Amino acid sequence: MLWLKALHLIFMVTWFAGLFYLPRLFVYHAMSDDAISNERFKVMERKLYFGIMTPGMVATWVFGVWMLADYAWAAYASSGWLHAKLALLVLLVVYHGYCGVWLLAFKHDRNRHSHVFYRWMNEVPVFFLLGIVILAVVKPF
Ligand code: HEM
Repeated sequence: MLWLKALHLIFMVTWFAGLFYLPRLFVYHAMSDDAISNERFKVMERKLYFGIMTPGMVATWVFGVWMLADYAWAAYASSGWLHAKLALLVLLVVYHGYCGVWLLAFKHDRNRHSHVFYRWMNEVPVFFLLGIVILAVVKPF
């Protein structure tokens, strides 16, 4: 059980590393205007999204659902924090999906957003991290 939790947290950190870094790359990509930088950012974004972030997300879900099936659903099914956490996780997957949409726009040279937009988007995962960790650890309700 503790092994599942350890692996869950390791992959959660992997996922969040990407959730924080990818919009940062979009900021710099949106500010760049030469072909060499454009192609280099495309490679970095693709490798981060498909090589690190998405496997991190899938593995976090696998170990989280595994813990639910193993003991946690039986223990916490009636606890509000678990339902609130799962609701935030669904929204976080939507945000992850939007990152993929922005990545494809850059890939096809169709990005329409400014670097300021991506700077704001870069703050979004902060709120998810605060909310989800507090719900999971403090279990306030
Ligand atoms: C992706 C879907 C996820 C599922 C299904 C899930 C489910 C779970 C479950 C069942 C536990 C064990 C609860 C316990 O024994 O107290 C757990 C622990 C934990 N989860 Fe998740 N989780 C997910 C994602 C995340 C994410 C994204 C974060 C961080 C942002 C996170 C942070 C934590 C933490 C910190 C713990 C340890 C709580 C403790 O032992 O005090 N989880 N998770």
